[in-house]
Amino acid sequence: MARRDDAIGRDRLVKGRIGALARFLVALILGGGVSFLLFWLGKRFSVIAIPIPILVLTQGFAAALFSRLFALEWWWSAIQLLLPIFVFGISAFPLPGWIFPLIIVVWVLVFWNSVFGRVPLFLTNATTAKALAQYIAPYRDARVLDAGHGFAGVLLALSKHRPDVHFVGCETAPFPFIVSWVRLHMIFRRPNVELRYRNFWDVNFRDFDVVYAFLSPTPMRALHEKANEEMRPGSILISNSFAVEGVTPDETFCVDDRRKTRLLIWRM
Ligand SMILES: C[S@@+](CC[C@H](N)C(=O)[O-])C[C@H]1O[C@@H](n2cnc3c(N)ncnc32)[C@H](O)[C@@H]1O
Repeated sequence: MARRDDAIGRDRLVKGRIGALARFLVALILGGGVSFLLFWLGKRFSVIAIPIPILVLTQGFAAALFSRLFALEWWWSAIQLLLPIFVFGISAFPLPGWIFPLIIVVWVLVFWNSVFGRVPLFLTNATTAKALAQYIAPYRDARVLDAGHGFAGVLLALSKHRPDVHFVGCETAPFPFIVSWVRLHMIFRRPNVELRYRNFWDVNFRDFDVVYAFLSPTPMRALHEKANEEMRPGSILISNSFAVEGVTPDETFCVDDRRKTRLLIWRM
């Protein structure tokens, strides 16, 4: 039964992902429509043509607004706002035509899970990593998972002082995974860190004493259900910033950093 619920939860997530991308594209097109309308009105009723930077900003702001109206998370609006400015900015340089598709490909490889998984790429800061170390302190010879390791900053920071702990990171965004692989194997060389190019939904949390996640509000309910189902008594799930609706954490730790990060901890 629990497995079936998990499958339903994941199904909802997948549909949510496709829905988000579709809403992003519709908002982008509508933003273009508003900008074109302004251009047309300017041409028809004004003696001076509307300057291109104004049209570019209109596109960005309108698409950002539509994204909010379509209930997309805030970072989609940030992308809508920055995208036309960026394209306009680089079009001022005499660049070869293939540069634009290349930029889009690199962008998708970096922000893979923002596009397909509604999880953006933020990074845990050093102060929060120190706070995390306190939670890992009582666990000797433990196994710790960073579900979505990004550029492996957390794994590298924590593993430095804990050679007894085996750290595992999972990542599905290609570019952060490659960068992390290079950092781990060619620069830092930490034998107690293991990186897997893998979706964390396919990893059994039973193997871990601590699971750390810095994701987004979207997957939190399914993540908590998975942890509840798979993790052993005494193990902990730590979420950086994102709560599980209707499930109070056993502990909330306020980190003394600039963004006042909250670590939410559920004990199994
Ligand atoms: C907000 S970042 C956090 C990165 C890192 N844990 C940190 O705290 O610095 C979330 C990361 O999770 C990755 N991610 C999202 N969903 C994932 C999934 N289902 N499996 C593996 N990685 C995932 C994203 O690509 C992104 O790199």
